[in-house]
Amino acid sequence: MLDFAVTVARRAGALLLDGLAQRPAVELKSPFEVVTAIDRASEALIVRAIADQFPDHAVLAEEGGGIERASEYLWIVDPLDGTNNYAHGFPFFSVSIGLLHHQELFLGVVYDPLHDELFTAQVGMGAWCNGNRLSVSAIPMLAGSLVSTGFPYNYATTNDNNYVQFNLMQARTQGVRRCGSAALDLAYVAAGRLEAHWELRLSPWDSAAAALMVVEAGGQLSDWHGKRWNPWSHDLVASNGQIHAEIIALLNDGG
Ligand code: IPD
Ligand code: CA
Ligand code: CA
Repeated sequence: MLDFAVTVARRAGALLLDGLAQRPAVELKSPFEVVTAIDRASEALIVRAIADQFPDHAVLAEEGGGIERASEYLWIVDPLDGTNNYAHGFPFFSVSIGLLHHQELFLGVVYDPLHDELFTAQVGMGAWCNGNRLSVSAIPMLAGSLVSTGFPYNYATTNDNNYVQFNLMQARTQGVRRCGSAALDLAYVAAGRLEAHWELRLSPWDSAAAALMVVEAGGQLSDWHGKRWNPWSHDLVASNGQIHAEIIALLNDGG
């Protein structure tokens, strides 16, 4: 199944690169949420491949092309994570394919086609990038950390938008990045390039595949209250483990 997911993610990544060269037209899903024909084409490619290979599996896919059925396996697909970046030609986007078995994370693949970086994880088997085993960083304090975040698409119409937490974190770390592909941000935590990523209102397709990478690389996942995270959780903190308690304290009462 991992080999299959890798092959399909690479095919979808090639499709994204072709589309990038043609500068696809951008449609609005909401005032700040964009989608392109390439999101849909990538999703169709991935979902068709899953349906052909595993006809009894269910699929949840961002653009609505999934397959609902009773199954112990659920594939969770973001055909293009970082559409806003992609639409502007900003080089940070990915394909994300996760698989749950009996509702538990089972495997995940995140592919960055521009850098040809393929991140993978399978439960109990570690997290990997292009054949190298990943391990979260050993930085023990927020003060020595580089972290990333994101903002929900409705940030302009709600105060529950992560701005307060962003300011606090900026003052307490070596920097906060807002890179624009949550799946890649989380893969970077697994790779030890970032000490943590936190975000509000992610969807399962943004986080499922890469969350497993963080755990398999020795990191920690929770919701903003430090409780057990699952792909349907409203909010997420992923870290190298060492700075997790500091982040939870900061998010909840300013640290
Ligand atoms: C978005 C990206 C972004 C995150 C948003 C997501 P999309 O996914 O992951 O980094 O901040 O919350 O919706 O829309 O580009 O697939
Ligand atoms: Ca996404
Ligand atoms: Ca997407």
